[in-house]
Amino acid sequence: MSPEPLLSVRGLKVHFPVRKGVLLQRVAGHVRAVDGVDLDVRRGMTYGLVGESGCGKSTLGKAVLRLVEPTAGTVLFDGADVGTLGPERMRLLRRHMQMIFQDPLASLDPRQSVESVLTEPLRAHGFTGSRPRRVRELLDLVGLPAAAAGRYPHEFSGGQRQRVGIARAIALNPALIIADEPVSALDVSIQAQIVNLLEDLQEQLGLTYIVVAHDLAVVRHVSDVIGVMYLGALVEEASSDELYAEPLHPYTIALMSAIPIPDPEVEERRRRILLTGDLPSPVDVPAGCRFHTRCPFRRPERCADEPPELREIRPGRKVACHWAEEIAAGSIQAAASAHDPTATEVGTPVTSAWT
Ligand SMILES: Nc1ncnc2c1ncn2[C@@H]1O[C@H](COP(=O)(O)OP(=O)(O)O)[C@@H](O)[C@H]1O
Ligand code: SF4
Ligand SMILES: [Mg+2]
Repeated sequence: MSPEPLLSVRGLKVHFPVRKGVLLQRVAGHVRAVDGVDLDVRRGMTYGLVGESGCGKSTLGKAVLRLVEPTAGTVLFDGADVGTLGPERMRLLRRHMQMIFQDPLASLDPRQSVESVLTEPLRAHGFTGSRPRRVRELLDLVGLPAAAAGRYPHEFSGGQRQRVGIARAIALNPALIIADEPVSALDVSIQAQIVNLLEDLQEQLGLTYIVVAHDLAVVRHVSDVIGVMYLGALVEEASSDELYAEPLHPYTIALMSAIPIPDPEVEERRRRILLTGDLPSPVDVPAGCRFHTRCPFRRPERCADEPPELREIRPGRKVACHWAEEIAAGSIQAAASAHDPTATEVGTPVTSAWT
């Protein structure tokens, strides 16, 4: 295994202009969808990206593949600086980086048979082997019968359609797959099958994944490393096991405390950390620590005026909080109001199949 990460992202920003005015369409501000993200993804591993809806996960995934143009920052893929490539080299590189979307139906053309869906990337990239054979091979890899080739997207169930979406993504033997909420639209009973398929394919084909989800339980199941996003930035990054054993960023602590624990006695005793205040708009990201308007651990010093860096506080553990060490040591506690039942809980619907 190469020590170099397959993907290396530095200072990535995607700011969308907000326009006002009927005629002049002047730029009134920016949606800071992705606001300075650094991350590395090693070959063969799965990087899980979690955070509430709207925190910038999809935009980050698209910016890595340059499906949206970054405002700033660099993306190195297998040593190539993706941002500097011209259209033809970008087209060639795309075969190595693929995306799987949440809603397989929306990303499949209803008038295209599965055969045509799977043949298209082969044709576009000048695949020289037998295309019908490759289609059969792909269907077999994703657990669909050869007869599926002649069928149309609406003839399949949601889970089967996601299998078609996966077959399309692996058609050209990519190195990296970004799976954006790949099971969020599926029945709970089907989710595990698709997650298992992704894991099997990773092993068979040596794939590297970024798996995006708002559901911590799904991400925990598949990820080696997890990044937690809040308002366009990573606030914590750790191995999956460590993050679950001991979340250190106040936002991660609140996310975790929203997950029900199957043991009713433990569930009864533990204190939930609830967040006060609404999720700020990404047009108006709070100064200082971007989480300070809702943070139950907020201090009068530093939090409101000094942005915390995402810093490595232990090997493999990065936290963007000025007080991470004190919170870990227990010398700073959550404010009492964080346990107030009128405070809001962060939204992480967790499906029972995964807990
Ligand atoms: N093309 C766009 N133009 C303007 N704003 C956008 C665009 N795409 C996404 N956004 C905004 O960027 C923020 C992050 O969106 P997104 O990346 O979809 O979040 P997530 O995938 O975490 O739910 C949201 O506030 C969203 O409304
Ligand atoms: S820096 Fe302050 S406001 Fe931000 S997460 Fe840490 S304690 Fe909370
Ligand atoms: Mg999304």
